[in-house]
Amino acid sequence: MNCKSFLLLGLALAAVACGQPPQKTSDIPVYLDDAQPLEARVDDAFSRMTLDEKIAMVHAQSKFSSPGVPRLGIPEVWCTDGPHGIRAEVLWDEWDQAGWTNDSITAFPALSGLAATWDRELSRLYGKSIGEEARYRNKTVLLGPGVNIYRFPLNGRNFEYMGEDPYLAGEMVVPYVEGVQSNGVAVCVKHFALNNSEANRHVANTIVDDRTLYEIYLPAFKAAVQKGHAWSVMAAYNLYNNQYLCSNEVLLDKILRKEWGFDGVVISDWGGVHNTLQTAKHGVDLEYGSWTDGLTMGKTNAYDSYYLADPYKEAIRKGEIGTEELDARVKRILRLIFRTGMDRNRPFGSQASPEHYAAARKIGAESIVLLKNEGGLLPIVGNPGKILVVGENAVKMMTVGGGSSSLKAKLEVSPLDGIKARWPEAEVVWERGYVGDTGGEYNGVTTGQDLRESRSAEKLVADAVKAAEGADYVIFIGGLNKSDHQDSEGLDRIQYGLPYGQDDVIEALAAVTKRLIVVNISGNAVAMPWVEQVPAILQDWYLGTQAGHSLADVLSGDVNPSGRLPFTIPISYADNPVQTEAQYPGVPRDSTIDGMPILDMEYTEGIYVGYRWYDIHGGVLFPFGHGLSYTTFEYGDPHIDRHITTEDGSVEVTVPVTNTGRVTGSEVVQLYISDVEASVPRPMKELKGFAKVTLQPGETAVVTFTIDKDALSFFDARQHVWVAEKGSFRALIAASAKDVKGTVEFTLK
Ligand code: BGC
Repeated sequence: MNCKSFLLLGLALAAVACGQPPQKTSDIPVYLDDAQPLEARVDDAFSRMTLDEKIAMVHAQSKFSSPGVPRLGIPEVWCTDGPHGIRAEVLWDEWDQAGWTNDSITAFPALSGLAATWDRELSRLYGKSIGEEARYRNKTVLLGPGVNIYRFPLNGRNFEYMGEDPYLAGEMVVPYVEGVQSNGVAVCVKHFALNNSEANRHVANTIVDDRTLYEIYLPAFKAAVQKGHAWSVMAAYNLYNNQYLCSNEVLLDKILRKEWGFDGVVISDWGGVHNTLQTAKHGVDLEYGSWTDGLTMGKTNAYDSYYLADPYKEAIRKGEIGTEELDARVKRILRLIFRTGMDRNRPFGSQASPEHYAAARKIGAESIVLLKNEGGLLPIVGNPGKILVVGENAVKMMTVGGGSSSLKAKLEVSPLDGIKARWPEAEVVWERGYVGDTGGEYNGVTTGQDLRESRSAEKLVADAVKAAEGADYVIFIGGLNKSDHQDSEGLDRIQYGLPYGQDDVIEALAAVTKRLIVVNISGNAVAMPWVEQVPAILQDWYLGTQAGHSLADVLSGDVNPSGRLPFTIPISYADNPVQTEAQYPGVPRDSTIDGMPILDMEYTEGIYVGYRWYDIHGGVLFPFGHGLSYTTFEYGDPHIDRHITTEDGSVEVTVPVTNTGRVTGSEVVQLYISDVEASVPRPMKELKGFAKVTLQPGETAVVTFTIDKDALSFFDARQHVWVAEKGSFRALIAASAKDVKGTVEFTLK
């Protein structure tokens, strides 16, 4: 080695020792050199871009894509729905199908079902699997998961979200994010924020106090950003603080970017941007889905009419706004592209693979909640003889419909087919019972099913009742579906009760058989006026490709049910916290914002959402966290070391749990905290920990929860800080929000 080589080696070693990247030795530009730090690459790429290239980058070029920098070899951003599977390809500028034949995918269970597993590792498996499908299809961003809080049971999109509790949603979203992003595909956590109903979603201004905002509606987003390191977030359609969410100074600038330190990209919901200057100052980084009138304005490219396209450039030219915000935007988008499309090490992905089918089946089976099981009617063991299955949801394909989460699944096993496959030796008969939705098309994807029916409602019930004669089991499979005003985007439900006269069918069946099992498929709570007459009830979800197999797994006991409700099922609609017109659907104002007539929707129930409300007011049919098993569990006394205080550290509470039944099963042990002496009103209890443990018959596990200051705090809106007040607290170990097994007190000194 000559002197010069020694010198270079010495410099390189010194640089490494100082934590600096090694000196470049080749002619590769910094931005293309993946040995260079991310920020150096972003800065270098940015420094090479023209104003036109920057403007091009901050708005869409088609329904689901936006440009990279073609001149520099920086790839485009391609988004896809989300959140339950990869959406079929649509035309460049239309929602209609592109007509590809290679875009059929695995439909994974709806997120309401994922939340019902209460299993963080299954959420990771879900994220990893769906991320692989997104990667295989060369997507940059998966438009999901959704973590808007389940505020009330009429929201048409609750099925896309993770339930009523911010802690549960926050714990479940993080591994999903990590799983997806391990594929070099970004998540886009949606819909930030306060998009808790669909009716009037484009014109509803939410009025909510800061404490409620921070304690209920933001924690799951914050967890996705700070713990999951989500690379993008979707700004919602609605308004908060009299500003559209897509240009919202408080939520996007102050909270997301400044308080939480989010360094990723905010993407608009499709068509959610309504102005140029306010958005340019505080709003989204990337504008998608705006209506264009490019043709009538004589533009060659309609997308040049976007708020963040020519009008943005014009505002900069006129000096109405500087380039500082644009520069920050472009850097954030570059960062996203380097993390995804320009990550040379990202895996290649896979689509509709046996592994993904197995994951979907497992998650599905673990999500089903056994609400009631009188006399041990379930599981169905041995040769069941004759099974009568009644109900449209036993056969209806549910992957098509529901709005943007609609899918083109390569396979969808219906509940009826799942049951037939599980018991080939049995006589399985199907009766329709009622007519619900006979449609089967969404944006050009069709189910191919012909669900037309000529029998009257009375005849359908009579035929079902007749078929029940001599049946060993009668399984009613109904609930909601993905059509308008059911579980579907853009519109909310209009009744809490089951639609299509299903209550009559169930009651008629209950009158003739004691061996009735009701399976409710929905993403929302429904009224169950027949609850006392039906011995066994299951809460099922839209489970996608393997729906029927997952259900049969639980009916048969091949999988011992361990799903737990991620929301409360109230007795009647009058029991739920959202009652007045001001709370929902809101009261129209006489003024407009950005030319739109606005409604005010006031969250006067405050922090009392879900069990926080029902704990005080009652009216619960099945509580949050509830779910039975085919085995039984016994809890020992919870124990806490009372000498430790949480001033700076944390305390540990332990509880032994034993499987006292005859089969292996999983219990979801829940920890709630109750603040005994508080200077502000606090909920009676709040979920702050959970653990899913699988136990063999006779086996005992000691479950340990760590309680830190966060678990004891409330948000003090006046000082804008989280506060854990000194004094007594109770740790409640529970099997649901209503089934407290043991309590132990401790003090914060
Ligand atoms: C929905 C989003 C979705 C987007 C793109 C919007 O209407 O609200 O959730 O990701 O469309 O399809």
